[in-house]
Amino acid sequence: MAERVQYEVEGSVGIATLSRPEKLNALDTKTRTELAEVIERAEKEVRVLIITGSGKAFAAGADINELLQRDAIKAFEATKLGTDLFTRIEELEIPVIAAINGYALGGGCELAMACDIRIASDKAKFGQPEINLAIIPGAGGTQRLPRLVGLGMAKRLVLTGEIIDAQTALRIGLVDEVVEHEKLMERAKEVAAKIVEKSPIAVKIAKKALNASMNMPLREGLKYEASLFAMLFSSEDAKEGMRAFLEKRKPEFKGR
Ligand code: CAA
Repeated sequence: MAERVQYEVEGSVGIATLSRPEKLNALDTKTRTELAEVIERAEKEVRVLIITGSGKAFAAGADINELLQRDAIKAFEATKLGTDLFTRIEELEIPVIAAINGYALGGGCELAMACDIRIASDKAKFGQPEINLAIIPGAGGTQRLPRLVGLGMAKRLVLTGEIIDAQTALRIGLVDEVVEHEKLMERAKEVAAKIVEKSPIAVKIAKKALNASMNMPLREGLKYEASLFAMLFSSEDAKEGMRAFLEKRKPEFKGR
């Protein structure tokens, strides 16, 4: 039975809630294992996944009790699992929305950065405080953070361990939107509902093309985009989308 990650389905949207509030949802092995199971389920069952946290944290990072027990070999193995999990989230065939309800620190910030869309409560706080423990971010913090906020701001956050508020995170591009704390889930569900209306094939392919922009040189990325773009013309949904526009009606997408 899941203890650390609750999972519920509302229509076509899955909601995964990190549920270890007494430890600020610190991402221990059990939490990461349960999250890995939930995302696999969600990819099969729903069209959008929302990840959030219970209590006053989204996730306060890796579990420092576990970190203290590790030697270099174990640290390498464990961090690889964490990195693989976050990469799997980034590459999931469905969009993933982080609804950041509170502290998103260390591995918690890295988890949020692996999601496709980030919506923050006005109470959320962000940072990569690993430097205070005499370590560095180990699940994407030195790689995804500069891609999102630029190298200069990423260096400042990683080297100082500074914790920033939600408005600052918005200003630097770490999150897309800040909403009143009480409206966080409502807003995340609204954004999810907008995506659910679209053709699931187009959504899946759009995410693939966007992800490729981070890993490919521009010329290669443009060729890849052109191939994916052309491929979508073989879907019934694309014909339906274009016809519906011309006939001034709502499209009925079938996902094929
Ligand atoms: N690991 C383990 N336990 C944690 C934790 C973590 N990352 N963060 C919080 N906790 C625990 C606390 O030890 C405390 O437990 P007890 O009640 O048993 O003492 C409980 O959660 C509540 O936390 P606090 O009492 O500290 O709450 P606070 O409101 O006073 O402070 C905080 C909140 C500023 C977020 C503070 O908890 C904090 O600084 N946490 C650690 C943040 C951190 O350093 N994260 C990076 C971890 S390393 C990492 O993530 C590596 C990586 O890249 C993968």
